[in-house]
Amino acid sequence: MNVLDAAGPQAGKLVVLWWVMFWVSVAVLALVLIALAFAVVRGRRHDGDRRPAPEPPPARRAGVVIGAATVVTTLILIALLVTSVVTGRAVSAFSGPDPLTITVTGHQWWWSARYDDGEPSERFEIANELHVPVGRPVRLKLQTVDVIHSLWVPNLHGKRDLIPARTNELWLQADREGVFNGQCAEYCGLQHAHMALRIVAESPQAFDTWRRQQMQPAPEPTDALVQRGRDAFLAGPCVLCHTVRGTTAGGRVGPDLTHVASRATLAAGTIPNTPGHLSGWIADAQGVKPGTRMPTLGLPPDELLAILAWLETLR
Ligand code: CUA
Repeated sequence: MNVLDAAGPQAGKLVVLWWVMFWVSVAVLALVLIALAFAVVRGRRHDGDRRPAPEPPPARRAGVVIGAATVVTTLILIALLVTSVVTGRAVSAFSGPDPLTITVTGHQWWWSARYDDGEPSERFEIANELHVPVGRPVRLKLQTVDVIHSLWVPNLHGKRDLIPARTNELWLQADREGVFNGQCAEYCGLQHAHMALRIVAESPQAFDTWRRQQMQPAPEPTDALVQRGRDAFLAGPCVLCHTVRGTTAGGRVGPDLTHVASRATLAAGTIPNTPGHLSGWIADAQGVKPGTRMPTLGLPPDELLAILAWLETLR
């Protein structure tokens, strides 16, 4: 993923700002190096023929050169400052009609997201993977339940902090389909580096299909093993932390697992969501992501396999 490959209006402006700063800095560096080389060569030439060093230029000429360089430097810095402020304002002024509103909450070390639009019955919560429709403005309300985090999805927007006891807003829009990786950009503890958020931008039709699917409660078990897995999950400690809509599990500490099998990664982008990785995660979460609040439960193997079979049906 190239962070300079903008996929939204604000990222586009930030990329322009980045290139302006880059090329101005390159030009300034080149000029300074040329001036330095010129001075060195001039000094050496006189060294070689053992003539006395040239008279220093008259103080007035040196004064003019230094003054001009100072003025040019100041003008360049002011121009960069103005460009930066104008870009920052344009980026934060972005909004639009009929936005999709999502409350994104930072946790040590994962993200929850609640889709707030529509009737209360149409709202739902997911974790670590947002879907958004292409071409529609998205209004993210950013909160945190513990420490300061920062959301950064380089292809769509700059960084915005999630501050305890307040709600920050971030508007973004994806102009093309794709999967855009986001990352927590504020050091927030041991697993700060494993706090990724995927944003899947898709066509409005595909988004609608996904949304309807996510609104559904968990499907009923269809065979004995899956049924056993659900019973084991609901009878065990899992329910203290996880919600699975359509069951009695209503914990709020960890990610909502109602459609966990529909997500591409586990543990906020730490591992791919495959049956093997999922069983490794349940069996030894502390080994996969030390410090995570997911405990190592020491489930009997047959129980683990049954729970795994059930979780795999939660699409
Ligand atoms: Cu959350 Cu760094």
